[in-house]
This record gives sequence, structure tokens and C-alpha cells, in this order.
Amino acid sequence: MADTLTITDNRTGKSYDVDITDETIKGIDLRQIKVNEDDFGMMTYDPGYTNTASCRSAITYIDGEAGVLQHRGYSIEELCEKSSYLEVAYLLIFGELPTEPQLERWVYDVTHHTFVHEDMKAFYRGFRHDAHPMGILLAGVGAMSTFYPHAKEIGDEEERYMAAIRLIAKMPTLAAFSYRHSLGLPYVYPDNDLDYASNFLGMMRKMTEVKYEADPRLAKALDVLFILHADHEQNCSTAAVRAVGSSQVDPYSAIAAGVAALYGPLHGGANEAVLRMLRRIEKVENIPGFLEGVKNREEKLMGFGHRVYKNYDPRARIIKKHVDEVLEVTGDNPLLEIATELEKQALDDEYFTSRKLYPNVDFYSGLIYEALGIPSEMFTVIFAIPRTSGWMAQWMEMNGDSEQKIARPRQIYTGERDRSYVEMADREGPEKITGPPARRPVKARRGA
Ligand code: CMC
Repeated sequence: MADTLTITDNRTGKSYDVDITDETIKGIDLRQIKVNEDDFGMMTYDPGYTNTASCRSAITYIDGEAGVLQHRGYSIEELCEKSSYLEVAYLLIFGELPTEPQLERWVYDVTHHTFVHEDMKAFYRGFRHDAHPMGILLAGVGAMSTFYPHAKEIGDEEERYMAAIRLIAKMPTLAAFSYRHSLGLPYVYPDNDLDYASNFLGMMRKMTEVKYEADPRLAKALDVLFILHADHEQNCSTAAVRAVGSSQVDPYSAIAAGVAALYGPLHGGANEAVLRMLRRIEKVENIPGFLEGVKNREEKLMGFGHRVYKNYDPRARIIKKHVDEVLEVTGDNPLLEIATELEKQALDDEYFTSRKLYPNVDFYSGLIYEALGIPSEMFTVIFAIPRTSGWMAQWMEMNGDSEQKIARPRQIYTGERDRSYVEMADREGPEKITGPPARRPVKARRGA
């Protein structure tokens, strides 16, 4: 006999048997629970989807209590040690590690699609010089759908493959262009002789040298960061990609939704916020006062806490190891001392331990980016580069899943109903509005 859950509705005294599959009941099975025939039926209320599985997925496994992260069954620790970002991207999308010729073809295909259409440069020039690079990237990815209109044929396997290749290949180019734009520097074209991480560093940093050469230790550290950020199951941006993609829009538009979600400070924007926080703390002696402010709920300890991990985020552990290696090449960073001491004091404090708040992936990643000479506005942009492979893998999985439907949650309506329109003369409110009309800040008005 299948596992079932018996639910008794104390309003009516009726009992219902609901099937349990994979430790889960189907939300729609609750709809049969009604007080009378006119009743719509029972729903679940779950803001933020804290206890709702929205899909079946075979891509990424997380055990938040134990601090385990695996992609297609391979541990993140082993992948960081033995693999490369492009191999992990292949693994996420196709489900298996590639053979040598498969990897060669994959790397060749990605490497030979790194250039963006020249018109994209004209598009980028329309942004103000001080536009945030993540805003530029978001628009750039959305605009790609207009350069590749056939991508909307999402049932065509070849189109889906080309979209995956193009997005993974062009994301570093778009990201580096958005950075160069913000500095007023000429865009640097991709160099197909370089590996994925070195090519990105080159497009960011190359000036007059004929050939850019990245320090292999720095390129390796960046590649590891790319592996660590490649996928993380149904996080906010991936859920956004799936929700938008469920309307059957083209993948560029769906991935642009992921970039938008990642922009937020509670998601991909956290590492930028961590650096701002460390700079504000300024010195080790100020840490106790800062933590008091966090406990009084005046602010958050950025880079700590996670919806799923209730233990040390395994990605944070790996990054921490690489911080030292990178600083060996680039020289000491005084913020590392503050970060290390802040972590120690927070982990010694009952407020954080009782809430199972541990460092997450963003606590140390900003320090590596800063050591690589990358400004903090670029941190989230860099997160978007590797997450593109995860978003594409999840988008492809969703498209092949016959159980999926267009995302369309329900609501509990709390507003008024059945009101009659009130004529203007009969409405209540102030007779006159005083004060100046809403104004934009002086900086934004300049040249607008
Ligand atoms: N600092 C101080 N208190 C915190 C923090 C924090 N960073 N995170 C959670 N708490 C407290 C929270 O106030 C609550 O306390 P109480 O139960 O007394 O009200 C308790 O811990 C549970 O927190 P929650 O807000 O219910 O947890 P959540 O699962 O909704 O939020 C989170 C998860 C990541 C949004 C949150 O921990 C947070 O805002 N952290 C800081 C931002 C950050 O580092 N984000 C990066 C996440 S990892 C990368 C990514 O996914 O993009």
C-alpha cells in the first residue's frame, strides 16, 4: 500500500487520505477538503516558498543541516579540486562528466561564441557613464533575445544547445564590457587562446600590452569561484528563471529575469554588501559594537545566514582556503583580519549559533574579488557569469518535464469586495496637498 497521510477537518469531522510520494504531498490534493460544495477548497499558505517543492530536479543536491552540496552526485569539494568551470557547466547541463572529445568540442564551441554582435556596443553606449554594471548586464542579456530570434523555438534541441553555448560564452564578454563602460575604457575583445577565466580577466584588465597573460594562480582561484557559484538548486534567481521560462518565453529573456533577481542585496548583491560592511567596521576593535547593532536588529550581518544551510556553507569553507593563496600573490588585505575576527566573534555568540547563522558563500568571495583588483560593483556581475550554466541546466530540465505548468501561484485575498464607484465630489480626504511635488535627487537630474 502506498504511503498516505490522513487529514481530519475539525470543521466538518470528515477525514481525507492523501498520497505521500518522496516525503511530499501534492498541494492540489488538499483542494478536495471543503466545508460545503461552494467552497473553493483548502490551499497552503507559504510566503517565500519556505516549504514548497516547485519541481523535481536531478541537478543539484543540498543537505542544509549537514552542509553538503553535490552537482549530479559529485561533491563540490571534489569538483573544485579536480575539475574546471567549463567541465562543471557541461556536467550540469548534460548530467554526466564529458569524455575527452566531448569536453574538447564543448570548450571549442564555447570559446568560438565569445564575441558579441557589434551592435551590442552601440546599445551599451546608451548607458550613463556611472550606470551600475549589473543594470547594464541585465539589459544586455535581455537584448540578446533580439539578436537571436530563433531562440524562441524552445522545442528545438539544436536551438536550446546554441542558446546554452551563446549564453555561457558571451556572459563574460557582456560582463567585462559593462565594467569597461563604467570606466570609460575601450572594450577589449575576447582572446580565444585563453582559458575561460583568463579570458575574462583579460577583457577586464588589458590595456596596451599585445597579449594579456593572467597569473595562473589567480585564474585558478577565479575558476574555482566560478565552479562554486555554478548552481544552487531552487534559489531566488533560479526560481525566477523557471517561473519566467514557464511562460515558454525564449531563454535569453528567462535568464535576464535570473540576472534581475540576482541583483538584489539578499541574493547575489550580498558579497558587495559584505565589503561595504567590513570597510564600515574599519578596525577589529569596532567588531563588538557592530555585533551589538546586529543583535539589536539595526542591521544584518551580511554574508551570514542561509535559507537552506543551517551549518557552515561548504562553499564558504572552500573559498576561505583560496583567500590565503590569492593574497600570497596580491599582498595582504587588512579587511581579511576584520572578516576573520568577525566570523570568530559571531560564531562564539549565542545570538548567531542559536539561529544557526554561519558564513555563507558571500562572506569571503568579495575579498578574493577585491584582491584580483575587481571593484565591488562587479561582484554580482561575476556571480552571474557562472550561474548562467546552472540557470540554463534548470531551464532545460524544466522544458523537458511534462509535469511542469506555467507558474501561477494562488493568493489569499484580503481586500475589499463588491464596492460601488464613489463620485469625486463624494470622496473623503484632504482638501489641499501641501509640500513640493516629488523630486528626483540632484545627481540623477543632471543630464537626464
Ligand atoms: N544577520 C542577523 N540576523 C540574521 C541574519 C543575518 N545575516 N540572517 C538571519 N538572521 C536572523 C533573522 O533576523 C531571524 O531572527 P528571528 O528568528 O529572531 O526573527 C532568524 O535569523 C532567521 O532568519 P530568516 O530571515 O527567517 O531567514 P531566511 O531564510 O528568510 O533568510 C537570508 C536567509 C540569506 C536572506 C538571510 O540569512 C540574510 O538576509 N542574510 C544576509 C544576506 C546574505 O548574506 N545573503 C547571501 C545568501 S548566500 C548567496 C545567495 O544565495 O545569493
